[in-house]
Amino acid sequence: MAVASTSLACPQFSGLRRSSCPKLDSPPLSISTAQSFFQNLDSHLRLSSSSPRNKACRPVVAMAGSGKFFVGGNWKCNGTKESIGKLISDLNSAMLESDVDVVVAPPFIYIDQVKSSLTDRIEVSAQNCWIGKGGAFTGEISGEQLKDIGCKWVILGHSERRHIIGEDDEFIGKKAAYALGQGLGVIACIGELLQQREEGKTFDVCYKQLKAFADAVPSWDDVVIAYEPVWAIGTGKVATPQQAQEVHVAVRDWLSKNVSAEVASKTRIIYGGSVNGSNCADLAKQEDIDGFLVGGASLKGPEFATIVNSVTSKKVAA
Ligand code: PGA
Repeated sequence: MAVASTSLACPQFSGLRRSSCPKLDSPPLSISTAQSFFQNLDSHLRLSSSSPRNKACRPVVAMAGSGKFFVGGNWKCNGTKESIGKLISDLNSAMLESDVDVVVAPPFIYIDQVKSSLTDRIEVSAQNCWIGKGGAFTGEISGEQLKDIGCKWVILGHSERRHIIGEDDEFIGKKAAYALGQGLGVIACIGELLQQREEGKTFDVCYKQLKAFADAVPSWDDVVIAYEPVWAIGTGKVATPQQAQEVHVAVRDWLSKNVSAEVASKTRIIYGGSVNGSNCADLAKQEDIDGFLVGGASLKGPEFATIVNSVTSKKVAA
């Protein structure tokens, strides 16, 4: 456990404020040979249009991930005992490709129902957890409790928690460190707001959020990074495969430069934001997209299975 227990025993409630977008601690700037790759991308996004600095630091080495395809279903604050029962039965009867890690994240109160009736083929995640050890924290759920009930994963840093609840980078980083210390895997979410993208700050925002995780976690072994552009979440406005790929490759490059080449290669970088049964195959073909975090479409068993099985288009593309 890398995080001092004293800091966890005295949680920083100042962390629960609306996050601003301070300037990033960028990694060293360099013009890499891959720059031309980005110049050729048919991206309609203004990642650097207003920022010459971003143009200069469009990094990036071409390095595809080596981790197993990973698909998570984030059910958010949806479902009833009945609808979840139906979803579980659809998932239990779905044919799922074997070479995919599949995880679903029900609301806390349904985790027990899901654990007791869902096939072991699919692991269970929580959508959040407390920053440290349980105790007098009304309304919270601790990492220990998640382990106790059979959760393997927890989603942290989701944009709805950052931008609606007001969790900031430091708070999220501490949660990640504590959860990993309890033996949970962490689905670490990052992603920019539309305005930040339009201002050419996409990379800066993602790097800053990544750095907060990197500063906090003792190891990346059990971390999956979910890149979820906020403008694509729940909007039906999915990022194009090229838009997603260019951020994924930048994230991998950041890991390579700031953590290690091994971590960059092994860490799954999954995409989230309006993924569905129709767009998943094209996204999955992208070299640096190692899977998906799915919201709305994960509430439909057959469609979620289609997304899981989009790993086959990755194999064809390879
Ligand atoms: P969405 O949500 O698939 O409904 O856009 C994704 C997410 O929030 O993880």
